[in-house]
Amino acid sequence: MIIILIGYMASGKSSIGKRLAKKLNYKFVDLDDYIEDKENLSVSKIFKKKGEVYFRKQESHYLKKLLKKDKNMILAVGGGTPCYSDNMTLILEADEVKSVYLKASLPNLANKLMEKKAKRPLIAHIETLEAMTEFIGKHLFERMPFYEQAETHVSIDGKDKDEVTKEVAEKLL
Ligand code: S3P
Repeated sequence: MIIILIGYMASGKSSIGKRLAKKLNYKFVDLDDYIEDKENLSVSKIFKKKGEVYFRKQESHYLKKLLKKDKNMILAVGGGTPCYSDNMTLILEADEVKSVYLKASLPNLANKLMEKKAKRPLIAHIETLEAMTEFIGKHLFERMPFYEQAETHVSIDGKDKDEVTKEVAEKLL
């Protein structure tokens, strides 16, 4: 079984994924870390040196590669992964794969991302909370139709990471 965590940047895909992997005794893989390892470059540098289109191609390539590995694995994908190529269809149609959308409100995401924007090339340049809120609001509007196709939805608002992990595990098993 592969459990794929999807959701916007800073929705907790990696931190919840690590906790869930520990709880279920599954392996944990973060798609961005996997790409950085294989490409020998950080995501920020890939965007800067090779461009977003190259990043999206590699993201889809490595997603396909990981989906073929039939292992007990929690896979945290990037915020954009479900929204490019045929990635969401692949995730939904793959055998032995469950998808979970970690859903967060706009104010929650904007506040978190003001603190955690440095390594995220799409938002690193945004300076004020107001501008961040506006950017994420528009971006979420475009991305929501992809995220909402996930089989399981869990809200992260007002919950700590252990509570979210418990809720994801209960909904899946
Ligand atoms: C992106 C999200 C990032 C990373 C890249 C692009 C996006 O992953 O893949 O910066 O398009 O939302 P996280 O969601 O883990 O921050």
